[in-house]
Amino acid sequence: MSLLHEGWPVRAAPPEGAPVAGPSALRTEGLGKAFTLHLQGGTRIPVLEGIDLAVAPGECVALAGPSGAGKSTLMRCLYGNYGADAGRIWLRHRGAELDLAQADPRLVREVRRETLGHVSQFLRVIPRVSSLDIVAEPLVARGLARDLAQTRAAALLARLNLPAALHPLPPATFSGGEQQRVNLARGFAPGYPVLLLDEPTASLDAANREVVIGLIAEAKAAGTAIVGIFHDPLVRDRVADRLFEVAPALQPRPILA
Ligand SMILES: Nc1ncnc2c1ncn2[C@@H]1O[C@H](COP(=O)(O)OP(=O)(O)OP(=O)(O)O)[C@@H](O)[C@H]1O
Ligand SMILES: [Mg+2]
Repeated sequence: MSLLHEGWPVRAAPPEGAPVAGPSALRTEGLGKAFTLHLQGGTRIPVLEGIDLAVAPGECVALAGPSGAGKSTLMRCLYGNYGADAGRIWLRHRGAELDLAQADPRLVREVRRETLGHVSQFLRVIPRVSSLDIVAEPLVARGLARDLAQTRAAALLARLNLPAALHPLPPATFSGGEQQRVNLARGFAPGYPVLLLDEPTASLDAANREVVIGLIAEAKAAGTAIVGIFHDPLVRDRVADRLFEVAPALQPRPILA
C-alpha cells in the first residue's frame, strides 16, 4: 500500500509517507480482509492486507487501483458492512477514537447516525417511502423536527435537480441517475464528519456532476473527511487531495504436484 501524491492537486498534503498532520478523522492500522468461499471447498481469497489509511478532517482521499484490487471491499469494511479479519479501524466519534472493527452493532448504529455517512453506488430502495422522507430520515434520526428535516431534504433534492413532482414518490421506478441523486442527498444532508462515497457520479450527467463536485467541496470546507471511489478522472482530479493505492493482496500460489 502506498500514498501517491505525484501529479495530483495536493492541497496541504504531507510529503509521501509522512503521517497526516493533526488527528485523523478515520484511520486504519494493518487492516486485512479475506473471503472464504464455502461453496468452493472453503477456498480463502485474501483481498486486503496491511492497509494503513489515514484521512484528516477536510481531506478527500480517493481509493485507486485496478479492478478487483479491493477498493469496494475496503469501503465496506470502513462502513462496518464487512467485518475485518485483521487490524483496526479508528474513527473519531464523540471526541474520542473508537475501533470500528471491534464495535458492537449498537455502537455501529450510533456511529452511522452521528459520525459516519455512506453513499453507496446504488440506492437501497425502501418500499413505499417517499424520496423526501428517504433524505429527511437521517436528519430526523439526529433529532431534527420532521418539518425542518423535510425542508432541508427538499432544498438538497432541488439543488440536485430532482423535480419537485418526484419528491413525494418512492424512488423504486426512478431512473438510475434520479435514484443516485436521492442517495446523494441522503448522504450529504446530515453533514457527517466522515463520509464514504462509492462512485457518486457514475450515473450523472455533466450538470449534476458539477453539483456533486460542489457538495464535496463544501463538505470538505466544513471539515468533513471523505474517502471516495471515483472512476471518473475528471471528478477525481477536482475533488481528491491525494490517492491511496489499494494493491491486490498476494493470492495463494497453487501447490504444484
Ligand atoms: N462477497 C465476496 N465474496 C467473495 N469474494 C469477494 C466478495 N466481494 C469481493 N470479492 C472479491 O474481492 C476482490 C476485490 O473486489 P472489490 O469489489 O473490492 O474490487 P474493486 O477494487 O472495488 O474492483 P472494481 O474497480 O472492479 O469495482 C475481487 O477479486 C472479488 O472477486
Ligand atoms: Mg468496486
